[in-house]
Amino acid sequence: MALDEKTLDALLAENRTFPPPADLAASANARDPELYARAAADPEGFWAAHAAELDWFRPWDTVFQWAPPFAQWFVGGKLNASYNCIDRHLRTWRRNKAALIWEGEPGDHRVLTYQDLHREVCRFAHALRRLGVKKGDRVTLYMPMIPELAIAMLACARLGAAHSVVFGGFSVEALRDRILDAESHVVVTADGGYRRGGIVPLKRNVDEALKECPQVKSVVVVRRVGHESLDVMVDGRDHWWEELVHEAPLTFEPEPMDSEDLLFILYTSGTTGKPKGIVHTTGGYLTGTYTTTKYIFDLKEDDVFWCTADIGWITGHSYVVYGPLANGATVVMYEGAPDFPARDRFWEIIEKYRVTIFYTAPTAIRTFMRWGTEWPAKRDLSSLRLLGTVGEPINPEAWMWYYHFIGKERCPIMDTWWQTETGAIMITPLPGLVTTKPGSATIPFPGIEADVVDNDGNPVPPGKGGYLVIKRPWPSMLRNIYGDPERFKAQYWSRFPGVYFTGDGARRDEDGYFWVLGRIDDVIKVSGHRIGTMEVESALVDHPLVAEAAVIGRHHEIKGQAITAFVTLKEGAQRSEILAQQLRDHVAAKIGPIAKPDDIIFTAELPKTRSGKIMRRLLRDIAESRQLGDTSTLADASVIESLKKVYSTEEEAG
Ligand code: WT7
Repeated sequence: MALDEKTLDALLAENRTFPPPADLAASANARDPELYARAAADPEGFWAAHAAELDWFRPWDTVFQWAPPFAQWFVGGKLNASYNCIDRHLRTWRRNKAALIWEGEPGDHRVLTYQDLHREVCRFAHALRRLGVKKGDRVTLYMPMIPELAIAMLACARLGAAHSVVFGGFSVEALRDRILDAESHVVVTADGGYRRGGIVPLKRNVDEALKECPQVKSVVVVRRVGHESLDVMVDGRDHWWEELVHEAPLTFEPEPMDSEDLLFILYTSGTTGKPKGIVHTTGGYLTGTYTTTKYIFDLKEDDVFWCTADIGWITGHSYVVYGPLANGATVVMYEGAPDFPARDRFWEIIEKYRVTIFYTAPTAIRTFMRWGTEWPAKRDLSSLRLLGTVGEPINPEAWMWYYHFIGKERCPIMDTWWQTETGAIMITPLPGLVTTKPGSATIPFPGIEADVVDNDGNPVPPGKGGYLVIKRPWPSMLRNIYGDPERFKAQYWSRFPGVYFTGDGARRDEDGYFWVLGRIDDVIKVSGHRIGTMEVESALVDHPLVAEAAVIGRHHEIKGQAITAFVTLKEGAQRSEILAQQLRDHVAAKIGPIAKPDDIIFTAELPKTRSGKIMRRLLRDIAESRQLGDTSTLADASVIESLKKVYSTEEEAG
């Protein structure tokens, strides 16, 4: 778990409370206090009422069907996600409202109105069709944060193909595995993307990955950077985006999709070495993202909504693209780093576009804290009215800093707990209804039934830690793991039959507020990014000089958690700082720079039980300089003593 007991007790003693600002209590989209009780009494009715705010080509016959663990929502209904995010807004003055305000890292910018977005999505849907993409196919998108990424997603949705977005920071091998698992025939990419002034050679990575993906027939390339060195095109396979859409018609009939048809796959890390393809379907996902965006961020017609997440993660799918666009909102999208060219880039963007709602991650907030208040102080942030955070537990200090220095004590903070699997926010305040407490995600969204239970699945009393579970299905929940229903069942539905297992630990306080503590499995959150420790271990043991590796997350001031790898080498291999660096680079090449271990600790042996299981718990204790927990099951107690010694010398040296 990310936090220890002492920190936890301190957290639960947190007694500062922040009631909803009076203006929000009076005007918020969700301001009726009965909302929670009504949704709890009839969750299906609650969700159906909100699904009905979307446009359906055919109404559903049944709201909800449950053959555990397989749920179906709005069964028999037909709709199209791209139609709901675009076309329905064209009937009103919204057609000329800004849908996307995009800012490139070098300072270029573009605004697409809903009408513009419609045209670009239709043109690209034609392009995809020309390349042979049909309803039901999967298209892999490996792109920078540019408008074409959102356009490509919506174009896939328009013609009924599922997108599988692969974060642009993932390596060649990670990309290859995801293309193969999704069985994509088409990959969309860009020549490169900007990051901190440098260029990420996306297309070159695609070329490498495709050496082992014979089924891929076409690659579409956006010319983002425009360097000659990146213009290597494979004849017959590669196409420039611009050329493909050049003569395409401006309209494209949206495909009527079954509510339960696949909308997208998004890969995320789990407890095994292999990332899993999380499956989301059309009607339920759109209902969940639409409803949560409307109520949690309180979207009003003239809001400017900025979620800083990369679209390569679920947060970007749900709160850069589908949720806000389904609401007809104006979305800000930024391509680059928060410190390029200077440390006030985010605040500059808020000032420039008069952003009203800002949604970011605790790790970013802690970084801003370290950079100092002079950076936000340089900019006019008076347009802000609501703030959000997501991705990992937020420590009360960071919450208070965000509240004072960004929100100027005017803006309520929505600490939103959810997962790739849940599709939409699950535990969160509502800005006009819920009193917030720094560090707590507060209470479940209306219609969501969450609980904290013990080993036997019984609810634990207030103040006691346990497993965070969701007790009834909700529309935007994952439907499956792509191609692996057995793993889907085992991972989420077997720990407590019929109940969704989140993999997180939590406590509730006397007021029923949830305090999410972090993962209790072999998944860690590094700067909000989800990384499987097993994935990093497999990458390490793949190196020719490594015999064994055990990877854990340790507490880190800024990143939340940092990656510590304990490594034993093969006979004859010499420990050295150079080798440690090689191992870090090896992991970066296998997974991506985000998975690079912060510390590599060479050790002669790893602590194991008599049956040979590595005792990661003890490694965490060592890395966080804690008193060791129970060591009685250790096969060889001396291993721990020598490890402690190695660790403290490494610490001093490092
Ligand atoms: C894990 C899911 C979908 C959100 C982006 C990350 C942790 C997320 C919070 C929060 C405490 C949080 C959990 C969860 N998490 N939000 N507000 N407070 N923990 O999605 O990559 O699928 O990660 O992120 O541990 O299980 P993800």
